[in-house]
Amino acid sequence: MIRVAVVGGAGYTGIELVRILLDHPEFEVVAVTSAADAGRAVDDLYPALSGCGLVFEEPDVPGLACSVDVAFLAVPHTAALDLVPRFLDSGAKVFDLSADFRLKDRTVYEAWYETTHTAPHLLSEAVYGLPELGRDSLRGAKLVACPGCYPTATILAAAPAIEAGLALPDRIVVDAKSGVSGAGRSLTAATHYASVNEAVSPYKVGSHRHTPEIVQALSEIAGSPVRVAFAPHLVPMTRGLLSTVYLEATSGLTARDAVEAYHNRYSGEPFITVHPEGRMPSTREVAGTNRAHIGVAVDEAAGTLVIACAIDNLVKGSGGQAIQCANIALGLDETAGLMTRGPVV
Ligand SMILES: NC(=O)c1ccc[n+]([C@@H]2O[C@H](COP(=O)([O-])OP(=O)(O)OC[C@H]3O[C@@H](n4cnc5c(N)ncnc54)[C@H](OP(=O)(O)O)[C@@H]3O)[C@@H](O)[C@H]2O)c1
Repeated sequence: MIRVAVVGGAGYTGIELVRILLDHPEFEVVAVTSAADAGRAVDDLYPALSGCGLVFEEPDVPGLACSVDVAFLAVPHTAALDLVPRFLDSGAKVFDLSADFRLKDRTVYEAWYETTHTAPHLLSEAVYGLPELGRDSLRGAKLVACPGCYPTATILAAAPAIEAGLALPDRIVVDAKSGVSGAGRSLTAATHYASVNEAVSPYKVGSHRHTPEIVQALSEIAGSPVRVAFAPHLVPMTRGLLSTVYLEATSGLTARDAVEAYHNRYSGEPFITVHPEGRMPSTREVAGTNRAHIGVAVDEAAGTLVIACAIDNLVKGSGGQAIQCANIALGLDETAGLMTRGPVV
């Protein structure tokens, strides 16, 4: 078995990693860290994992690093700047869920995250972990920067249109909605039940930190810089994320042609479903799974291509995708541990 540590395991993405890894045929979770909950049984904090036999331990990196083959870092940005080099030095492969190694240009990272990047020498080594866009670069990778939840859904939605020239790539409008677990486990006034319940609120419009990540990926595909207008929204649900992307359609584009292009682009992808013409996805149909469901429409009167992508932010948007990347990087079956179906209603 491949020995795995989940650092930040008491947080939302960390415990989701543990949930999936417990049923993985090749990985064995040997350590789950939490400073706040050290010494506490994992199933005492999260009874849904009853009987798992794990206990949270202090994030003692030197001790952990010598005893694991793989480290999943489910920690806030800046925390991974210190953790990643230490795990890599020990020979472990690292799958970082934070934003610390996603942006190739350190100055862009430093401007958006308002901090100094203390390990810039690793930025060129870090592979962006979106398998449907760059599977080959993940094979054998030692450091994978797992994408953010909004970028995952948005890039999967927009990429085929740009690649196939179905739309003009220079101005991309993204209207996206996320459940509250996207903000992590710590409570804030904005994520308090009374703030979120029965309300839909845009936030950080034009200033959300996932914007440069979306711009980076889509500019690379377009071959020139793209502009992205990004409006995230908080919606009253626990998990799930829907990103709707609006692009100026090329002249004469029909819904039928657009849907066919998306089908062709994602044919053979184990986790992607492109819905037939006339059907749009819902977060409900992907809940608890590593799937991304995509719907494609053309508003011919408005000359607009509209693509919606639904994912579970805690699975395809974070922990599940990190495991998908690990499967590829370690030469395992890409779908290992990830084919579980979610609830139907
Ligand atoms: N939530 C999502 O939908 C989502 C999706 C994609 C990516 N992400 C990214 O994934 C990361 C984790 O997100 P989350 O939502 O799981 O956050 P979270 O619920 O706040 O959990 C983060 C955990 O990290 C631990 N931690 C903090 N500083 C640490 C350090 N220096 N060393 C070791 N552990 C540390 C904390 O546990 P202790 O203090 O107890 O150790 C905490 O439980 C973030 O970078 C986030 O941006 C989140």
